[in-house]
Amino acid sequence: MELNIKASFAFLLLFLARLSDAQTPAAQPAVFDITKYGASSNGDISKALLDAFKEACASTSPSTIVIPKGTFEMAQVKLQGPCKAPLELQVQATLKANADPKQLSADIEWLTVNYIDRFTLSGGGIFDGQGKAAWSQNNCKDSKSCGNLPNLTSTAPPRKHQHRWHPRGAIEQCEHHRLCHWHGDDCISIGDELERLHITRVTCGPGHGISVGSLGKTPGEKPVVGVYVKNCTFINTDNGVRVKTWPASHQGVVTDLHYEDIIVQNVTNPIVIDQVYCPYNQCNKDVDHATTTPPQR
Ligand SMILES: *[C@@H]1O[C@H](CO)[C@@H](O)[C@H](O)[C@H]1NC(C)=O
Ligand SMILES: *[C@@H]1O[C@H](CO)[C@@H](O)[C@H](O)[C@H]1NC(C)=O
Ligand SMILES: *[C@@H]1O[C@H](CO)[C@@H](O)[C@H](O)[C@H]1NC(C)=O
Repeated sequence: MELNIKASFAFLLLFLARLSDAQTPAAQPAVFDITKYGASSNGDISKALLDAFKEACASTSPSTIVIPKGTFEMAQVKLQGPCKAPLELQVQATLKANADPKQLSADIEWLTVNYIDRFTLSGGGIFDGQGKAAWSQNNCKDSKSCGNLPNLTSTAPPRKHQHRWHPRGAIEQCEHHRLCHWHGDDCISIGDELERLHITRVTCGPGHGISVGSLGKTPGEKPVVGVYVKNCTFINTDNGVRVKTWPASHQGVVTDLHYEDIIVQNVTNPIVIDQVYCPYNQCNKDVDHATTTPPQR
C-alpha cells in the first residue's frame, strides 16, 4: 500500500512539473554569436561558424547562431544535421564569398544546410556570392556539360552555380539583395529532402527569386514538406516565388508551402509553378511529366 501511495505521489509530482512547464513562457533560445568563436572581420569566418554550429546543433533546447552586423568573408561551409532542437541562423551581416573560382572546391556549394529539421534563416543580412566574374564565364547556354565544370581550376564558374543542374541537399544560398548584379540563378533554391524551412525578411533581386527545385531530375528524391517564406521582398527579379520540376520527372512530393507578406516590385512572374522546367532546352519537353503534388495555397 505504501508503495502505491509513493507511486501516485511521484506521478502527481511529474504531472505538476509538466503543467508548470506548459505554463512558463517558452525559454529564450540559446544564442551562439560567432564572434565569440573567433570570427573577426579580417578573415574567413567559416571555422567560427562551424564551431558555433557544432555546439548549437548539439543543444537540446532551441538555439540561434548569430552572425552580427558587419562584413565578413566566408569560405564554403556545410552545416550538416541532424540537430537535437530547432535551430535558427540569424545573418545580420554581409557575407562575401571568395570571388576567385580557383579558391572554391567543386565538391560543395558556398553555403549548404543539410538534414536539419526545424531550421530558420533570418536576420536581414546579405549573401554576396561575388559571382559576377564567374558568371560571365558560364557557358550553360551552349554546353550540356556545363554542370560538370571540368575546368574548375582554370576558368569555369564556381560550383555554387551548379544547383540548377544538381538540386541536391537542403538549401543553397547565393546572391540576393542589391549585390546580385549579374543575371541568372536563384536567390534561394531549395532541393529535395527538406522539412519545415522558414525564410523570413529576405530581399532578392535581380535574379530568379526563391524557388523550390528544380526537382525530379534524379530518382529517389525525398519529399519537400513545409516551406515558410514570410515577409520577403523581390525587386527587379524575373520570378518571385517558384516551384519547378523537370519534364518526365521522377516522382516526388512537394507539400505545405506557405508564402506570406510577399512584396514584389517590378517582378515579371511573381508566382510560377513550372512542371516543364527545361533551361536552355537541355531536355525533351514533350515527354509527359510525372505527378508532382501541387503546392498548398
Ligand atoms: C577546358 O575547357 C575548354 C573548353 O572551354 C576545353 O577545350 C579544354 O579541353 C578544357 N580543359 C580541361 C583540362 O578540361
Ligand atoms: C517585415 O520586414 C520589414 C523590414 O524588415 C519590417 O519593418 C516589418 O516589421 C516586417 N513585418 C513583419 C510582419 O514581420
Ligand atoms: C525592372 O527590372 C528589370 C530587370 O528585370 C530592369 O532591367 C529594369 O530596369 C527594372 N525597372 C525599374 C523601373 O527598376
